[in-house]
Amino acid sequence: MINEIPYLTRNSGNMPCVGLGTMSYPEPEKAIELIKYALDIGYRHIDTARKYGSENWVGDAIKMSNVPRDKLWITTKVTEDNAAPVDFMKSLEKSLMALNLNYVDLLLIHWPSRTIPIKDTVGALNNAKKEGLARNIGISNFTTSLIQEAVHCSEEELYCNQIEYHAYINQDKVLHACDKYGILVTCHVPLARGIILNDPIIQTIALKYNKSSAQVALKWLLQQTRISVVPRALSYNEIEENISLFDFNLSDDDMEKISSLRHNNLRVVDPEIRRPLWD
Ligand SMILES: NC(=O)c1ccc[n+]([C@@H]2O[C@H](COP(=O)([O-])OP(=O)(O)OC[C@H]3O[C@@H](n4cnc5c(N)ncnc54)[C@H](OP(=O)(O)O)[C@@H]3O)[C@@H](O)[C@H]2O)c1
Repeated sequence: MINEIPYLTRNSGNMPCVGLGTMSYPEPEKAIELIKYALDIGYRHIDTARKYGSENWVGDAIKMSNVPRDKLWITTKVTEDNAAPVDFMKSLEKSLMALNLNYVDLLLIHWPSRTIPIKDTVGALNNAKKEGLARNIGISNFTTSLIQEAVHCSEEELYCNQIEYHAYINQDKVLHACDKYGILVTCHVPLARGIILNDPIIQTIALKYNKSSAQVALKWLLQQTRISVVPRALSYNEIEENISLFDFNLSDDDMEKISSLRHNNLRVVDPEIRRPLWD
């Protein structure tokens, strides 16, 4: 069992700063087993989405685990195809049914819609919160101008923006915009789908701390302010490794060395049919 994971705090809730990503699990039985294992060893934050098809498996794993509901942080996302208010609520109902939960801790719009006005989707997010179906609401893959627009039409606090962030991408502008509005940042693909793990600088630093490259890459993110991470892994060992991050700190010098890797300019998640005009 891992020691308790630090939380990020905003007015409306406390989110464990490490969660388990659940995208692209190969098969249901294995997925349920791995999510249950993560809960058994101390994960309390699970990241799912309607799009991933993993909500049922998360629901089953929660049922099989002994973790009380109020100790869990479950994030799910409504697909941008369901960004119109009526579709949005139907999608959320399906999510809750699949998860076998009365509410989620964080509900996000997965990508900004190209057709539905942001104020309509943000209105639907607000309603989900007012009706108690989501404790916190937020956005994902929003750029600086979209963040500003979303903030201005939301009555409720927007808790977080889930974005691609790892050492190979410069996200300064989006981080700055989130900071301006007090929005937390959750990093998706925090390991750049494994690509950064082969980086010689990360590998050298990992050797120095006697940690894995994945642990160093995740720690680099967590040592920045208001950041949480949701790595996905398919082995018990990696799942454990990805949450065993709180017995070491990277020095300022090593933080800087890893920051210098942004020149690689790698965006892993960039679907042509969904991407906004990136900053
Ligand atoms: N909001 C969005 O639009 C969005 C988009 C993409 C992802 N996400 C969320 O972010 C989560 C994470 O993203 P991701 O799964 O695409 O990529 P990721 O977490 O950056 O990388 C996963 C890859 O890293 C490997 N890995 C994980 N831990 C490792 C370790 N300790 N040592 C060595 N290799 C390790 C995994 O290998 P194995 O497969 O061999 O275990 C897998 O190939 C997703 O599951 C999803 O929940 C959100």
